[in-house]
Amino acid sequence: MPLVRLKVLPVSAAAVLAACLGGGIMQGNDVGRGEPPPRIDLPRADGDAGSGLERALAGRRSVRRFTARPLTLEQAGELLWACAGRSADGVTGATRTVPSAGGIYPLRVYLAAGDVRGLAAGVYRYLPEEHELQLQSGEDRRRALAEAALGQMFIARAPASVVITARTARTARRYGARAQRYVHIEAGHAAQNLCLEAVALGLGTVPVGAFVDEGVGRVLEVDLQEEQPLYILPVGTPE
Ligand SMILES: Cc1cc2nc3c(=O)[nH]c(=O)nc-3n(C[C@H](O)[C@H](O)[C@H](O)COP(=O)(O)O)c2cc1C
Repeated sequence: MPLVRLKVLPVSAAAVLAACLGGGIMQGNDVGRGEPPPRIDLPRADGDAGSGLERALAGRRSVRRFTARPLTLEQAGELLWACAGRSADGVTGATRTVPSAGGIYPLRVYLAAGDVRGLAAGVYRYLPEEHELQLQSGEDRRRALAEAALGQMFIARAPASVVITARTARTARRYGARAQRYVHIEAGHAAQNLCLEAVALGLGTVPVGAFVDEGVGRVLEVDLQEEQPLYILPVGTPE
């Protein structure tokens, strides 16, 4: 008897699910023979009845208008910790509030402070290991930062801005061309942490990506060959 070689057809996950639900084996757009694919109602999730994290997620929105209220040093510390701080997971030991490809941590985080109670105006680099600020410049550079951000003046009006940069070459040593992708992903993790922490503290922020690198480099006094600015996040009390 001649052997008949059966053709193996790709069966999509949706087709398998539909088959399990009693619709028989179907392929691609044929799911349900022209009927819309089945949908599953999910339990309610809008943050109202949820945890603090869920309330912060539901409350996050871009804030570009700030009151004149200063930030406190405690708030600045909480925001910076959420963005890049040190923590411990009990398994691998010391880690950070953000994941990092290969545990390389190529991001640097700065605070351009103008109106932070208990902190002289200036630009500071956050040191996650020590949870300290290291002075870069003793000038209030908020206006220069706003100008570097194509004149987005709410940056000058916020009491402080967090600026995230990446030293991409550090990640590239291990991951080559994928480093660019990885540092951008990591900046997203850090910025989102900051956005959520701001909501949790009754503050507001907006992630700003429109700026001229050279201008931000001058504000931070960093060498753009070594580190590239990725995000500016002005923080303050929402108006
Ligand atoms: C990569 C990126 C760059 C952004 N750049 C700016 C910016 O330069 N200026 C600004 O006001 N908002 C900026 N935003 C904020 C978006 O405009 C905002 O997230 C979007 O309108 C959705 O509104 P929501 O954040 O209130 O949900 C940026 C957001 C992202 C993710």
